[in-house]
Amino acid sequence: MRLLHLGDVLGQSGRKAALDTLPMLRDRLSVDIAVVNVENSAHGFGVTAKICKEFYDAGADVLTTGNHIWDQREIIAYIDEDEKLLRPWNFPDGTPGKGDYVFKTRSGKKVCVVNMMGRLYMDPLACPFQGANKLFSKYRLGKNVDAMIIDFHAETTSEKMAFGHHCDGRASLVVGTHTHVPTADAQILPGGTGYQTDVGMCGDFDSVIGMKKENSIRKFLTKMPAGRFEPAEGTATVCGVFVETDDATGLAKRIEPVRIGGRLKGSWPSA
Ligand SMILES: [Fe+2]
Ligand SMILES: [Fe+2]
Repeated sequence: MRLLHLGDVLGQSGRKAALDTLPMLRDRLSVDIAVVNVENSAHGFGVTAKICKEFYDAGADVLTTGNHIWDQREIIAYIDEDEKLLRPWNFPDGTPGKGDYVFKTRSGKKVCVVNMMGRLYMDPLACPFQGANKLFSKYRLGKNVDAMIIDFHAETTSEKMAFGHHCDGRASLVVGTHTHVPTADAQILPGGTGYQTDVGMCGDFDSVIGMKKENSIRKFLTKMPAGRFEPAEGTATVCGVFVETDDATGLAKRIEPVRIGGRLKGSWPSA
């Protein structure tokens, strides 16, 4: 199976690039499932129902998020109506929405998508490592699901790498999001799980993690409160990762970064 995951879509520039590119990516890579992290798609902060629809119309199958999920208040009432929009799985019991979803591809294959959040330098949450164990007792790769994608939304490279190894052999792909900068470590772990510490954002890289750089520099320089952070408006780079899995085991056969447009050097999976 062929899986595509795009990183955090940032503001209008990121949205435009991701929405324009997604149909071409689906087509050229013969993608079975496309997942997009939309936690910063509404002017940098959260996501709206209208934006979700735009992504579904462009070919996204499942949307993941992270710590910015509730920034647009309308999403609190909406999320229970849309089971393909995920929030972090390890939020407190009773939180609206869900953190896992089983998507059925056109060919009838089942792909479990999970949105999990890390804890280092993030809000206190239920343990993502124990959470993953619970999920793996329910979803067994190559048995009752054909593929499994885990978007691990976390700050530190160490927690992300540890989580990747923790899931190794039990998921098709563990992909990091949240830090917005793509890491150069896309690999297949020894047990067969595709892994990249951070997939990067769909956003303008002439910025500080997607936001206009001036406010950020001023804040670091002066330690005074900065104005409201605004998304950078230059042409975005679409950052994602492409994984091809073994149909029998659900494990990764190859993993390749995808980077298109904007300021970053391009990267395109070989045929
Ligand atoms: Fe983000
Ligand atoms: Fe985040």
